[in-house]
Amino acid sequence: MLPIDPSKKITFQRWISEGDLVIVYEKHDHMKAIKVCCGSVLQNRFGVFEHTDWIGKPFGSKVLSNKGGFVYLLAPTPELWTLVLSHRTQILYIADISFVISFLEIVPGCLVLESGTGSGSLTTSLARAVAPSGHVYTFDFHEQRAASAREDFEKTGLSNLITVGVRDIQGEGFPENFCGLVDSVFLDLPQPWLAIPSAGKLLKQDGVLCSFSPCIEQVQRSCESLRTNFTDIRTFEVLLRSYEIHEGKMECSADDESGSLGSSPCKKRQCSSGRRNGKEKWDARTVMARPCSEAKGHTGYLTFARLKCL
Ligand SMILES: C[S@@+](CC[C@H](N)C(=O)[O-])C[C@H]1O[C@@H](n2cnc3c(N)ncnc32)[C@H](O)[C@@H]1O
Repeated sequence: MLPIDPSKKITFQRWISEGDLVIVYEKHDHMKAIKVCCGSVLQNRFGVFEHTDWIGKPFGSKVLSNKGGFVYLLAPTPELWTLVLSHRTQILYIADISFVISFLEIVPGCLVLESGTGSGSLTTSLARAVAPSGHVYTFDFHEQRAASAREDFEKTGLSNLITVGVRDIQGEGFPENFCGLVDSVFLDLPQPWLAIPSAGKLLKQDGVLCSFSPCIEQVQRSCESLRTNFTDIRTFEVLLRSYEIHEGKMECSADDESGSLGSSPCKKRQCSSGRRNGKEKWDARTVMARPCSEAKGHTGYLTFARLKCL
């Protein structure tokens, strides 16, 4: 997940080895994570792929099956991991994650606290953002979820950047040994207002907190709690709009030429022209873009606040 070469520099020149985690890409919405293992095969609708053939190829390679079908072998990144991880809880997706990392001002070397860990979707991106010298301490009160998250961080090679603790953060708060040392805190809890006083004690002066809540009533209660020790309290909702692109045929006539179709930069005229109803007509191939019908709507509200400097 962190492409580091033997001299401990980030590198994008990487070759697939035995034991590597790869993201097998069929389509943008059809991917899966696989550990490369000599002698194993991947079988899908495109045929049978031998893992042995993948070893020594650069990440990003297109590899062929016994039937001539293909997939791409991508290097695992937090962005791709979020799309393939096993969902043990609701998770944060990349639009919210990228906003959180920017607004929490997380850079390499930061010390970050998080609760709950959930499926570790956000934690994975937090870890990459603090690498190589920072650390993420993440807490969940659900033992099995914490254990599964630990296994995932081993799998993705991030375990030296993340410590997973089992703790009821709403009931007990964060461990006090972080007092005044923490750069940022992230909460994804059902009653975040119960954890906010503890987060305030642990943050560095000027440190930033973010709380993710699906309901506005949770946001209201969190903001009431934040007013005691925090300033610059702001709530955002991140809405991502993606587009579907289709190519289609459109019948055009000479009258259209000077109109909106004629002026479209996307239109390409085809040869199939002729006269119909006394007018010259032709089929134009057109590229049409429209917002995805299945675009994700509301995920949650992100409330940010900065600890008051006393
Ligand atoms: C929605 S999930 C977090 C998902 C995570 N942000 C992600 O991106 O994968 C919420 C987590 O909070 C945990 N949780 C709920 N109450 C808690 C508490 N009092 N202390 C610690 N963890 C708690 C739950 O067990 C659950 O795993």
